[in-house]
Amino acid sequence: MTDRYAVIGNPIGHSKSPAIHTAFAAATGQDMRYEALEAPVGGFAAAVDAFRAAGGRGLNVTAPFKLDACAYATRLLPQAGLAGAANAMSFDGAEVAAGNFDGIGLVRDIVDNLGCALRGRRVLLLGAGGATRGALAPVLERRPAEVVIANRTAATAEALAQRFAPHGAVAATGYDGLRRRPGGFDIVVNATSASLRGELPDIAAAVFGPGCLAYDMTYGKGLTPFLRLARDAGAARLADGVGMLVEQAAEAFAWWRGVRPGTAAVIARMTVPLA
Ligand code: ATR
Repeated sequence: MTDRYAVIGNPIGHSKSPAIHTAFAAATGQDMRYEALEAPVGGFAAAVDAFRAAGGRGLNVTAPFKLDACAYATRLLPQAGLAGAANAMSFDGAEVAAGNFDGIGLVRDIVDNLGCALRGRRVLLLGAGGATRGALAPVLERRPAEVVIANRTAATAEALAQRFAPHGAVAATGYDGLRRRPGGFDIVVNATSASLRGELPDIAAAVFGPGCLAYDMTYGKGLTPFLRLARDAGAARLADGVGMLVEQAAEAFAWWRGVRPGTAAVIARMTVPLA
């Protein structure tokens, strides 16, 4: 029987997940169907109940439901518990497991696809929302020299740094404080939602150290203001979040199906040139 999966969110029309998972299923010979599901805000639980009742096996979860997914689950995988947000669910009878593969997707893209080790490096994460919460534990696991979280609202960054302090060397600052820190970073990740609106976090070009990788989690928008600043500052490498998107999808697929799909061809097909 064909197994059903979907991505749930609001809005959902823009999602690339159906195309990614359909490509994975074809490449691995899995008998499954994957669609997009729009739930009304406030209607997450009812929509998931209906999907499960119709035989659905798993969901990817996107905005604004990543917290609802945690609340709905009967069991949280460690990354979802740490992030307080889930981006994938798996259904087995009455059991609902929830995971968060965004952070591991980011790490795989940076380390495996872009060939940029995290161990011993200075890492700057811009933003202190859900994207940063998901990234912190997988990034810290790779033992960077330090991770600095910089956020417009410094107190939110501070709270995250305290929460993740047991996992490694992590500090917090506002953008003013960032300007006063000496030296640039080896890897700068824009995990704010600023690029979605063509905005730029208030950072100086000096954050991009020699040989720096500048990574914008936003994807498909070409050269965002963040990536343009990085390029003009002489960053050695620029990347958007298309690889992270495909890698987190591959993690969810492997979790659901027990088969790991290749990602290179799908990333190549989805990549928008950074010009
Ligand atoms: P989510 O949790 O869904 O990722 P969020 O909580 O709205 O979304 O977080 C978005 C992040 O982008 C926040 O860190 C936000 O900064 P604040 O905490 O100060 O609001 C950051 N952000 C959004 N627009 C920004 C901008 N123009 N400049 C700098 N940071 C911005």
